[in-house]
Amino acid sequence: MAEPVLEVSGLVKHYPLTRGVLFKKQVGAVRAVDGVDFTLGRGETLGIVGESGCGKSTVARMLCNLERPTAGAIRYRGEDITRLSGRALKAVRRNIQMVFQDPYTSLNPRMTVGDIIGEPYEIHPEVAPKGDRRRRVRELLDVVGLDPEYANRYPHQFSGGQRQRIGIARALALRPEIVVADEPVSALDVSVQAQVINLMERLQDEFELSYVFIAHDLSIVRHISDRVGVMYLGRIVEIGTDEQIYDHPTHPYTQALLSAVPVPDPDARERRERILLPGDVPSPADIPSGCRFRTRCWKARERCALEVPPLAVPAEFRHDTGPAAHDSACHFAAELRVVPPGERDADGDSSTRAY
Ligand SMILES: Nc1ncnc2c1ncn2[C@@H]1O[C@H](COP(=O)(O)OP(=O)(O)O)[C@@H](O)[C@H]1O
Ligand code: SF4
Ligand SMILES: [Mg+2]
Repeated sequence: MAEPVLEVSGLVKHYPLTRGVLFKKQVGAVRAVDGVDFTLGRGETLGIVGESGCGKSTVARMLCNLERPTAGAIRYRGEDITRLSGRALKAVRRNIQMVFQDPYTSLNPRMTVGDIIGEPYEIHPEVAPKGDRRRRVRELLDVVGLDPEYANRYPHQFSGGQRQRIGIARALALRPEIVVADEPVSALDVSVQAQVINLMERLQDEFELSYVFIAHDLSIVRHISDRVGVMYLGRIVEIGTDEQIYDHPTHPYTQALLSAVPVPDPDARERRERILLPGDVPSPADIPSGCRFRTRCWKARERCALEVPPLAVPAEFRHDTGPAAHDSACHFAAELRVVPPGERDADGDSSTRAY
């Protein structure tokens, strides 16, 4: 793997649950993020996928230093940024920028697009001297495929896809090294999702960016990710290259998610096995013992309630050199091809790709 730019270890965010109005007493905790580890390589895209509420946005906010972790470390160029403050923190923040999920609410409706994109320069005037900002903003609009003349318009004059381009331009204003994109296309029409993803791919090459790309759907991240981590109830349950995750998943949760992804070819759709998960995701305030996925896992056995499965190469594959030998937090990991290899698109991707 490429040289790491971000190393996340043991990342935890617990929100206290309190009772009482005057004398607040902590009665528990929402374990929004409950021990997340991953590494992001230079120039790499790491996709993070999981159902709503599994802790993705909380991870994103901690990576961008918008929120302090309860425990754990986030090392950027070897330095733990969760311990920084003042000037050192400001310098790091410049290099790790966020693209938000909702392009309708993340742009201030009372500001012009030019002021929105140029706003980061107010906090980091060293990046662009005052006299140069107008030119830079116009350049950024051009870079994201918008007319530089739009700088004087307001967000409501743009479509969802265009607003997300504005959000991306703002994220790039300070020339960051890492962009954390929290479901950047979830709020957009399917027809514009691919355009925004293509734009992000082009910008990655142009500006040598490393991405953490968050989505709730496995089909969206395949196209852009080098590696993918699958989250469930505050933890990563399986992580690997796109080939390992999509074609050789070993965790029952990933297998279930993949089996639900739309498949364009009707024959393939019929031949594949659909894995339906029983019940709902448990509350992060009341996480099951042992394996947190056990209340919905069709493979669960007694051991699953007693022992927490570590995120590591499962014993079954430890001496394997094939693609199943990747980190998966399951006591009974087994490879399962959810979409058979014969059902691939002409360009070589499996038919789990949505566009
Ligand atoms: N500030 C907060 N206080 C209490 N609970 C929170 C807070 N922020 C998020 N949560 C809870 O943490 C869990 C994870 O939330 P989030 O990170 O937004 O998930 P995702 O982005 O995957 O949908 C959810 O159960 C959510 O309700
Ligand atoms: S450890 Fe048990 S409950 Fe958890 S995913 Fe594996 S088989 Fe299912
Ligand atoms: Mg979210």
